[in-house]
Amino acid sequence: MATQLVDHNADITTLDVSRGELYAADSWRPLFARLRKEAPIHYCRDSFFGPYWSASRYADIVDIESRPEIFSSSFEHGGITIFDMQNTGVQLAMFIAMDDPEHAEQRKTIAPAVTPTEIGKLAGPLRERTAQLLDSLPVNEPFDWVEKIAVELTTQMLATLFDFPWEERHKLPFWSDWAAKIDIGPDPVLNAEREKYCFEMASYFKKLFDERKALPPKGDLLSMMAHSQHMANLDEQRFMGNIALLVVGGNDTTRNSMSGLIEQINTYPEEWAKLKADPALASTAATETIRLQTPICHMRRTALEDVELHGQTIRKGEKIVIWYNSANRDEDVFPDGDKWDVNRANSRRHLSFGYGIHRCLGARLAELQLQTLIEEMVKRNMDVKLVGEPDRIPSCFTRGYHHMMVTMTRD
Ligand code: HEM
Repeated sequence: MATQLVDHNADITTLDVSRGELYAADSWRPLFARLRKEAPIHYCRDSFFGPYWSASRYADIVDIESRPEIFSSSFEHGGITIFDMQNTGVQLAMFIAMDDPEHAEQRKTIAPAVTPTEIGKLAGPLRERTAQLLDSLPVNEPFDWVEKIAVELTTQMLATLFDFPWEERHKLPFWSDWAAKIDIGPDPVLNAEREKYCFEMASYFKKLFDERKALPPKGDLLSMMAHSQHMANLDEQRFMGNIALLVVGGNDTTRNSMSGLIEQINTYPEEWAKLKADPALASTAATETIRLQTPICHMRRTALEDVELHGQTIRKGEKIVIWYNSANRDEDVFPDGDKWDVNRANSRRHLSFGYGIHRCLGARLAELQLQTLIEEMVKRNMDVKLVGEPDRIPSCFTRGYHHMMVTMTRD
């Protein structure tokens, strides 16, 4: 792990864990270890994203997420990322960034698409596609795991969920990457570009949505929205926001977990050997991968009233960032928390999917995709080796990779 960006003796009040370069260099862990120990509720006065509070311990994050009436997710107060979205042309008025009752109404519309029964229907085709893709990989020749496996598998799943035109599916990760880019901050040129692609995505989806509305209801996400009480007539920002939520939610997160798996296999080859000896461990291995990857590093809340935490007063209107990447390594919950442990008994307690009323709707689907990938890799006795350092996304929101070069062998 690179540590050159971290001054271990820096005054704790000057720590800023939102700096993109910490994530590009994968050197953020010691800073959060300090925050958990010395300043679990910490104020950063000055950052690229303005002043913000941080919560870094597991128990505090659960507490904050359990009180949505005080800690708001609403886009009207700035939304769910450290970057205040309300002053840009793309507010991303999605239900993850709303409070109840509007959040609950829209969540109920989408929930039937991701019940265990519905997800069960996706399992067979998912396994087939995963197997095909793994069998198509070059042996002993370098290739980009992100492009060939992670992006392709998650894009195929998303296209299935939306019943999106198959040949055009590669538009989905392109839009998703732009919608999730918060590290561009207030840069007017990049924001204009982001706006352009978000509107392009919304108008493409609106056409499909109108077509589905005119047809009898079907099981795909767009048809379910078009025929629902609460999502059939959304305004422009809400329509675009919710499409972005489903596209980003179903895409970047699972994709980056699939690549994170390769980092874990390379760091802990003895755990990979355990999996090969006992494939029944694939489910825990999938959960462990999602815990350690923490593909969404943080959510943000805005205080609706003055509130005290660990003796610190967060004032009405201030933002508090809840760092899942830190909670998932909290020594009080996960001993030896940086280790990928395919036998870890409490791995499922991780907070990568959040907690409370906004807990991820796609959690089961993400786990299924990852578990299937692991099982099919084990079945082929695959060994995937990193070639050099992965190219990491310089963001404190999406924790993932632009590229990851690997070589592979299999039986
Ligand atoms: C490893 C993969 C994934 C991770 C790490 C992840 C992470 C998250 C997180 C952190 C939240 C917010 C939780 C909170 O505020 O407490 C969330 C919410 C959400 N996720 Fe995921 N997600 C993943 C996969 C998916 C997939 C595959 C889908 C859709 C098919 C999806 C759809 C959603 C939706 C709709 C919400 C909003 C729920 C609400 O506000 O009520 N996610 N996810």
